[in-house]
Amino acid sequence: MEANKRLIRKNVSEMAGYVPGEQPVDPGILKLNTNENPYPPSPRVGEAFERCNVADLRRYPDPQCRELRETIARVHGVEPAMVFVGNGSDEVLALIIRAFVENDGSVGFFDPSYSLYPVLAQAAGVAQRPVALGDDFEWSMPDGYEASVFFLTCPNAPTGMAYAPETVADFCRTFNGLVVVDEAYADFAEGNALSLARELGNVLVCRTLSKSYSLAGLRVGYAIGSPVLIDALGRIKDSYNIGCLAQKLAVAALNDQAYMLRHTGFIRETRERVARELYMMGFVVTPSQANFLWVRHERVAAKELFSRLRERKVLARYFPGERTDRHLRITIGTDADMDRFLFEMRNALNQQ
Ligand SMILES: Cc1ncc(COP(=O)(O)O)c(C=O)c1O
Repeated sequence: MEANKRLIRKNVSEMAGYVPGEQPVDPGILKLNTNENPYPPSPRVGEAFERCNVADLRRYPDPQCRELRETIARVHGVEPAMVFVGNGSDEVLALIIRAFVENDGSVGFFDPSYSLYPVLAQAAGVAQRPVALGDDFEWSMPDGYEASVFFLTCPNAPTGMAYAPETVADFCRTFNGLVVVDEAYADFAEGNALSLARELGNVLVCRTLSKSYSLAGLRVGYAIGSPVLIDALGRIKDSYNIGCLAQKLAVAALNDQAYMLRHTGFIRETRERVARELYMMGFVVTPSQANFLWVRHERVAAKELFSRLRERKVLARYFPGERTDRHLRITIGTDADMDRFLFEMRNALNQQ
């Protein structure tokens, strides 16, 4: 049967779709391409899993995610009415466009930043208003800039750079649309924008359990902000967007803050060591506050290095495109992972 393209919405038939990082099947590959956490989740997650009763799956999950929202609220010192939970923060970002951008509105974000934002704008059929970062990927916001929603990734991906807290605060206070501070990597950083989400009616902070809590496979993310904004998201979500297993395991992970802080601490230490070693090898290393490094070699092109590493069973992330194709993004693994990475990187650089 011939597919009838005429049935597809124009914006959907014209868009390419998001390209996620490769999930290789070969277990021998050192996977440093999607900013996953190399450490297992807290043992409390395993214990909660053991306590789950398969027979309970016959029932729908709590549509309000009450226990999970109360737990998140306690962790961040806010009211549960200020918490919205999504199936990964990707779902939260998509719902934000649906709830807050009119058909003739626009979605803003820095270029480069998280490459999902333009895809979500295309899927919703709304305009994009990207803002080019400076030559060294530093903050650069033109005067009088406007958009319905601005996705502010901090620390940024794929660069790892965090913007000065005063700059972020000034922007949030003066911008007349909604600012979504995407803090997927904030647990690896020095600061965060939670106080702005508590204080200002036009700021949502998005977080995820995928990175700092080692739960990318569980799919839990959340937004924090004024109850009015949170209520709007609640109206348009699927009734049961978070399964009961995900709710229980997320509660267990969030209740072990000590574990999360210890392991994000390990990753930060490893990140600084790897940054120093790469610098000694002739890399320009962008200062990172995330669980990855954004690097460019003075002599060897990023695309070439990516392939040489791939042949050596090390998977980094290479983003084609004018602003990104000179760099590689390297997720920080364990110390042993990164010793292997540095060894293979030295070989890759010396390859003729
Ligand atoms: C900036 C940023 N936001 C959000 C996400 C998505 O996170 P989640 O796994 O919660 O959907 C990612 C994932 O890589 C990311 O880099």
